[in-house]
Amino acid sequence: MISKTTIDKVFEQSLVEEVVGDFVQLKKTGSNFKGLSPFSNEKTPSFVVSPVKQIWKDFSSGKGGNAVAFLMEHEHFTYPEAIKYLARKYNIEIEETQLNSIDKEKASERESLYIISEYAKEFFKNTLINSSQGKTVGLTYFKERGFSDETIEKYDLGFSPNDQSYFSNSAIEKGYDKGFLEKSGLTIFQNSKSIDRFRGRIIFPIHSMSGRILGFGGRILNTEIKTAKYLNSPESLIYFKSKILYGIYFAKQEIAKLDNCYIVEGYTDVIQLHQKGIKNVVSSSGTALSLDQVTLIRRLTSNITMLFDGDKAGVNATLRGIDLILSAGLNVSVCSFPEGEDPDSYSQNRSFEEVNDFLIKNSQDFIQFKASILVKESKDNPILKAKTINEIVNSIAIIPDRIKQELYVKHCSSIMDVSEEVLFNSLAQRTKNEIPAISKKRISKVEKTSKLQKINILFELERKIIEILLLYGYKEEQFEELILKNDDDGNVLLEPVLVKSIVYKKIFLDLQQDEIEFTNDSFKILYAKIIEEFQENEKLVLDVFLNSMDEELSNQVTSILMSEDQYQLHDWLSKDILVKAKNKVVGQLVTETILSLRTYLINEKVKELQTETKKSNTDNSEILKEINDYYKLKSLLSKKLNRVI
Ligand code: CTP
Ligand code: MN
Repeated sequence: MISKTTIDKVFEQSLVEEVVGDFVQLKKTGSNFKGLSPFSNEKTPSFVVSPVKQIWKDFSSGKGGNAVAFLMEHEHFTYPEAIKYLARKYNIEIEETQLNSIDKEKASERESLYIISEYAKEFFKNTLINSSQGKTVGLTYFKERGFSDETIEKYDLGFSPNDQSYFSNSAIEKGYDKGFLEKSGLTIFQNSKSIDRFRGRIIFPIHSMSGRILGFGGRILNTEIKTAKYLNSPESLIYFKSKILYGIYFAKQEIAKLDNCYIVEGYTDVIQLHQKGIKNVVSSSGTALSLDQVTLIRRLTSNITMLFDGDKAGVNATLRGIDLILSAGLNVSVCSFPEGEDPDSYSQNRSFEEVNDFLIKNSQDFIQFKASILVKESKDNPILKAKTINEIVNSIAIIPDRIKQELYVKHCSSIMDVSEEVLFNSLAQRTKNEIPAISKKRISKVEKTSKLQKINILFELERKIIEILLLYGYKEEQFEELILKNDDDGNVLLEPVLVKSIVYKKIFLDLQQDEIEFTNDSFKILYAKIIEEFQENEKLVLDVFLNSMDEELSNQVTSILMSEDQYQLHDWLSKDILVKAKNKVVGQLVTETILSLRTYLINEKVKELQTETKKSNTDNSEILKEINDYYKLKSLLSKKLNRVI
């Protein structure tokens, strides 16, 4: 784990406008920056970064948060990956904690493997571009395949000299450890001889989701040599075949943006399509698609389109892939290529539009796909047709979402010309499916929001208090207190006195005095957290604070903080002017909000007491007295409130 000190340092030093600015073009507007949302294809900017609050908000997608949240959304980093990225950006040394000695050893071994892979990548790249063998053999080959210089550079393509141990010797000379050369698979040690695994091959480095080199694929050029066309790194602490998707680093943003991921078979298919401009492409690199790979994609989209050769092997792989993807709860379509063509060969002499059109026109959902391949064989043969329908129902049964299942049943019924009822019956015979956890969570979210809307005023007031605490909690402000006084004639007067207080203390004491508790669950948690933070640290650094809570809560905070900016934004867009900044001083704002909350709660209390008097037929005098007291309090409050507003 990364130590707390490191995390704190990262938060202290990173500036959200700089972090976001590396990915989004930002323009200063008032105290904020704005830009085009990187999460949608919008034309008018609705993406705001606040340097003061150190947060960002995307009003087109509703996403928002601190610098780390941005990297997690945009770069699809995990939390530790985001922290590490920032540490690298701001030159902060990463301190790891809580590792036992075995974990420590593994972590440092992993790190060493990364370092050696990085070295090898650079070596192969350099050999391709600068050595005469690299140029005449490797580069020529890439050019023949139609790869541009830009593509070669982007994908870090390389060449390993056709020499038994040229690479290994150079690495050993540079001081790289033999043990790690062996573990990475780059070198094979045999009777005191070292042999370069990838000798004489062109090299495809394999990048992780965050761009680190995990391993390599090498293709032989001379097809006469009887050896595997492609050779890959062996499994190691950093290279797990089934967890890797070739091209994911270069495709992730486009996959998320277009909300679809193409899966192809090979390295060259990925590169060729990408060069054509179709960038949401990854490859399972010759292995059967695995659940781990689908899980990687799931972080980006829930729609997958498999592009496969029309040959028998391709079809079988596709059929297996379909069920795997469906079982993971994702949607799957299939696009098959004409016999003898793969995505690489197909797109070579065609334009982006032609290839893109082909992909769109030929993509069919899995039912159509299954129906089309099976029907070909089963035409006019009722037994085969029944088999086909069963095959389709098998796939539908795997889908975890009931609603989707039903839609597919309807679809299948129309394509296969069989009644829905028969299909449903057949479906019911297969294993029952549980509603997956994800959709349960969604339902509870929806319920929560509708509850919130019912108690609107209270919700707004509680929200306002949280906002004030977050923005001005530790400010010292002047508050006007009204003190009850008797004048000489015995009349009760309200005398204003100015007192200084820290905002959070004032709010805390006032609410405590009236025993006011927040009714909204997340506000209640937030309030407790904020007060605790102030009491412990005497300050609240927003992004550090955001970081200490779960995603839902931190989303709440962000939207509270940005609600003001949203008004501003609407105005920029419609009238191109900034609304006047809130001209109320903080002290006034605090007093007004608390008084309004108290008034509201008293009204509610009075209503409650009144219904009680109606219900009971016993003596109501106690209750009526209480109501009367509340009325007095209310009038006092409204006097105070009138002074403020
Ligand atoms: N593959 C492999 N080992 C092999 C053959 C193939 O790992 N011996 C993997 C590679 O990742 C390759 C993918 O399977 O990219 C698809 O193989 P294939 O269709 O045979 O190759 P292409 O990608 O079409 O390669 P090329 O066009 O260079 O012949
Ligand atoms: Mn090919």
